[in-house]
Amino acid sequence: MQRLGYRVVDILVQHFAGMRDGPVGAKGAPDELMARLSRPPPETPTDPHALLAHLEKEVFPNNLHVDHPRFFAFVPGPGNFVSTMADTLAAGFNVFNGTWLGGSAAAAIELTVIDWFRRFCGFPETAGGLFVSGGSAANLTALHAARCARLGDRIEGATIYFSDQTHYSVERALRVVGFAREQFRKIPSDDRFRLPLESLREAIRADKNAGLRPFCVVANAGTTNTGAVDPLSGLADLCAAEGLWLHADGAYGAAAIICQRGREKLRGLERVDSLSLDPHKWLFQPFECGCVLARDAAHLKSAFQLMPEYMRDVHRNTAETNPADYGIQLSRGFRALKVWLSMNTFGLAAFRDAITRGFELAEFAERELRTRHNCEILSPAEMGIVAFRFGNDDALQTKLVDLMLRDRFAFLTSTTLKGVTALRLCTINPRTTEDDISQTIDRLEKFAAG
Ligand SMILES: Cc1ncc(COP(=O)(O)O)c(C=O)c1O
Repeated sequence: MQRLGYRVVDILVQHFAGMRDGPVGAKGAPDELMARLSRPPPETPTDPHALLAHLEKEVFPNNLHVDHPRFFAFVPGPGNFVSTMADTLAAGFNVFNGTWLGGSAAAAIELTVIDWFRRFCGFPETAGGLFVSGGSAANLTALHAARCARLGDRIEGATIYFSDQTHYSVERALRVVGFAREQFRKIPSDDRFRLPLESLREAIRADKNAGLRPFCVVANAGTTNTGAVDPLSGLADLCAAEGLWLHADGAYGAAAIICQRGREKLRGLERVDSLSLDPHKWLFQPFECGCVLARDAAHLKSAFQLMPEYMRDVHRNTAETNPADYGIQLSRGFRALKVWLSMNTFGLAAFRDAITRGFELAEFAERELRTRHNCEILSPAEMGIVAFRFGNDDALQTKLVDLMLRDRFAFLTSTTLKGVTALRLCTINPRTTEDDISQTIDRLEKFAAG
C-alpha cells in the first residue's frame, strides 16, 4: 500500500509542479485511442506499478489538462493539491455522506461549509443546501424544489423564463422535471448579453393574459459565454411583485461573491430563492463539486425527503440532518471535505485574491487583444471571460481552435454570439501568468495571419 501510495503522490506532485512546462494536453482520435486502450479485464493480477506506468504514458497525456495555466476553454478546472489529498482521504475512508447515522461528522462538516457559503451569499439563517456533482445537478435540484414549492403536482400551463444566454443544463433540468419545451420562454438578451427586464415583464404579462401560470425565472450570475450577470436586483423586485420563484445559475460566477469585484457585480444575489454555485469552477476544487443553496432549506427537504421503512433508524432523531433528504443522491461521497481542507489550509484571503486575479487576467487579455492586428472584441472582459475574433470570417475562428489544439501550447474554444462565431478566453486559473496570455495571443495572431 505504501509503495503504491507514494508512487501515486509522486505522479501527482510531478503533474502539479511540471504542468506549465508541458503541453496543454491532447485529444486522441476515437479509432486510434480505442484500439490502444480498450482491453478485456485480465483473469490474473497485473503489477499495479506497470499499470501506473501505462496510465502515465497513454491515459493522462491524452486528455486536455483543464487545470493547465494555458487552458482557457469552456470553464477551466484549476484544482489544487490540498483538495486532491482530501479527495484521496474521502475515497480511502469511503465516507458515506448520505445520512447522519452513516456519516455524522461528514454531515457536520458539510453543514459547516454550506453555512460558510450561505454567509458569503448573504442568505438568511433559514437557508441551506448541499453538495452535488456540479452545476447541472444543482440546477436540476433547485428547479425540482421550485416546482414542488410553487406548483405541486400540477405543472400544466406553468411557464418559465430565462435568457438566450442561459446554460443548456437549465433547459435539460426543466425537461427532466417534466416541463415541455412550449413552457419555456427563452428571451433574447440585450447588447451586453443580459436578460432585459422589460422583455421579461412583457412576456409574463402576455402569459398571464393568456391564462397561463408564470412560476419561475432563471437568472444568470455569470454566463458561460461571456460572464454576463443578469440584473439580479431588478429580477428580484419583479419576481417578488409577480410571486415567481427566482433561481440563479451561478455555477460559473457565484463564487466570485467572496471578493470585492464579484460582490459588486452580483448585487441582488442575496435575494434569490435558490442558487447553483460550483466550487469545481471558480473555487479551485477538483471535480465533482457543485453546490445548491435554497433560501429556505425546507423547500429542498419537502421536495426530496421520503421515509421508507428500511430507513427508519435514520429518521428517528429529527435533530439530525440527513443530506440525502435534500437532494437526489442517497449514497454520496464526502465532497465538502475538499472545500473544508483547502479553505482552512490556504485561508479565505488566498481564495479572494485568486478570484480577483481571474478578473484581472481577463482584463489584461482584453487590453492585449485590442493591440493585435485584425482582432475585434465582441464582449469585453466580464467576470473572467473575454470574447473576440480575428478577422470577420466564422470559419477562421473554428480553424484557429483546431490549430491551437494541434499546437498544444494553449487551448481555447469558440462560441456563437448574436449569430457571429467568437473565440473566448476564460482566465480563472490563478496560476496563469500575463506571459501565458501574451504568448497564447501571439500564436493566435500568427495563425490568423496564415
Ligand atoms: C453557467 C453554468 N451553469 C451550469 C453549468 C453546468 O455545470 P456542470 O458542468 O458542473 O454540470 C456550467 C458549466 O460550465 C455553467 O457554466
